[in-house]
Amino acid sequence: MRFEGKVAIVTGAASGIGLATARKLAAEGADLILADRDFAGVAKASQGLGGSAVAIELDVASEESCRQCIARAVEMHGGLDILCNIAGVLDFGSLRDLSADRWNRVIGINLTGVYNMCRAAMPDLVERRGAVVNMASAAGLVGVPFNAAYTASKHGVVGLTRALALEFSKAGVRINAVCPGGVETPMLHQAMPDNVDMEMVMRSASWLDGGALATSEEVAEVVTFLASHQARRMTGVALSVDGGQTAG
Ligand SMILES: NC(=O)c1ccc[n+]([C@@H]2O[C@H](COP(=O)([O-])OP(=O)(O)OC[C@H]3O[C@@H](n4cnc5c(N)ncnc54)[C@H](O)[C@@H]3O)[C@@H](O)[C@H]2O)c1
Repeated sequence: MRFEGKVAIVTGAASGIGLATARKLAAEGADLILADRDFAGVAKASQGLGGSAVAIELDVASEESCRQCIARAVEMHGGLDILCNIAGVLDFGSLRDLSADRWNRVIGINLTGVYNMCRAAMPDLVERRGAVVNMASAAGLVGVPFNAAYTASKHGVVGLTRALALEFSKAGVRINAVCPGGVETPMLHQAMPDNVDMEMVMRSASWLDGGALATSEEVAEVVTFLASHQARRMTGVALSVDGGQTAG
């Protein structure tokens, strides 16, 4: 029960890694806010968690929506200890097809979304000497071909994490990132455009378990570790959970 008495927000909690993280935090006693633009999804997930879990509709790309989400969480639970920024989108394709709209959408959700949530939550996190866990990716550490906007957004998340970790170290707020390789979630099942060279993309696969994808639960274990007191000496870390993908 590492999170007994702790208030936690998880973005992207309707599906995949966010949902697995929310389940683990709830199972270990957190007062939980599940936030996602898929409100029906978080509403359903929060019912399954029982207790004090609450669903909130959130668009991380909107500064105002993030402000309202934090304000509601603090109003309901009196403060905030843990922020897990998991919401994200993937958009494979060649640079030729990467319009400004597609670029801005990916950067707006994956990178500006993390900035929006951190900025809105920081005064409350400082008050409780809290912790932030940002979802980056192996694509935050190395290049992934045919995935330029996503790769840039996740490199941005790693940089933002490191900068904020230093800035808020004196205030006692820890800020870390998780960098998974391939994880078996709905995100990975979107259609690939025809002109993507899959052989090149798949070269960045896991070395463990014959290249098998990780599960959301395996990644959630690392997210919750970084959010917990067990990681009290860790800040500014981009922790790989990629089966060795970025080791060589
Ligand atoms: N699946 C992988 O292989 C993998 C690998 C590395 C990193 N990641 C990262 O993990 C995170 C979770 O991805 P997943 O694989 O669980 O995908 P997923 O598609 O199962 O879940 C993503 C969730 O984010 C929500 N979301 C999307 N845009 C949003 C917005 N603007 N505001 C609020 N919520 C929004 C979606 O509704 C969805 O519930 C993402 O940041 C992703 O980039 C995934």
